[in-house]
Amino acid sequence: MAYETLLVETRGNVGLITLNRPQALNALNSTVLKELKQAYAAFHIDDGIGAIVLTGSERAFAAGADIKEMQPLEFAEVYKNDFISGWDEIAKARKPIIAAVSGFALGGGCELAMLCDFIIASETAKFGQPEITLGVIPGIGGSQRLTRAVGKAKAMDLILTGRMMDAAEAERSGLVSRVVVPERLLDEAMEAATKIASLSHPSVLMAKEAVSRAFETTLEEGLRFERRLFQSLFATEDQKEGMAAFIEKRKPVFKNR
Ligand code: HXC
Repeated sequence: MAYETLLVETRGNVGLITLNRPQALNALNSTVLKELKQAYAAFHIDDGIGAIVLTGSERAFAAGADIKEMQPLEFAEVYKNDFISGWDEIAKARKPIIAAVSGFALGGGCELAMLCDFIIASETAKFGQPEITLGVIPGIGGSQRLTRAVGKAKAMDLILTGRMMDAAEAERSGLVSRVVVPERLLDEAMEAATKIASLSHPSVLMAKEAVSRAFETTLEEGLRFERRLFQSLFATEDQKEGMAAFIEKRKPVFKNR
């Protein structure tokens, strides 16, 4: 399938999506949202794909929602059409998605990275929620997900001032899981995704579900949820195989991958 704003390819068991609107620093317009949903959906029904990497260019992961598209919109139409609610669908994706971020990840770009399961950043990455400087606020979850990721003090600082933070600060504050030199960014993300895709898919999907649940529920309910998932994995052949392989000092051959 040909996309206007994305490059989409399969590398082994990994789906790779590259945002491709270089003239606008990968600003997220309605076509990007529509195409991202299509690309995700295609990878989700493809049994050969075990994980997805989402990246941008060296200069920008994405510099935010498209300001030129948004500027003329009126309250009645954004409210009536529940403008930007479509991004929630991406948060609900079941297969693991890694964001590989280089350059600007601002506004909706930072929020899109946070919709992924974890973020690997290049040393050049710059994160921020500058919406306040445009007379608005984050709209794709920034006020909620950034606060959960980095805590109230830093989230307030970033969202109220609109300042950017570099990759080192983002790693220190828990927004990103790893920082690598720019040349390593895509390889690092692809290697992580390839590793995930090589594992038993039911356990990978449940691991993602369990961690995601931590953001939605109480500790007691979350622990109960985790325990039930853990127990249910004993119904899979891959649990028998994974543990047998360890005992026999060999590599596991998982059926469900
Ligand atoms: C539309 C954008 C854009 C954006 C950059 N461009 N960001 N177009 N929407 N968010 C366009 C510029 O207009 C310009 O095109 C080209 O990309 C290159 O950008 P420059 O500004 O010339 O580059 P530079 O001087 O290097 O500055 C980079 C930058 C700056 C610091 C990232 O572009 C910037 O501040 N961008 C806006 C960041 C932002 O406010 N994001 C939040 C958006 S609101 P032309 O054709 O003019 O040369 C948001 C809300 C999300 O995301 C939730 C609700 C949907």
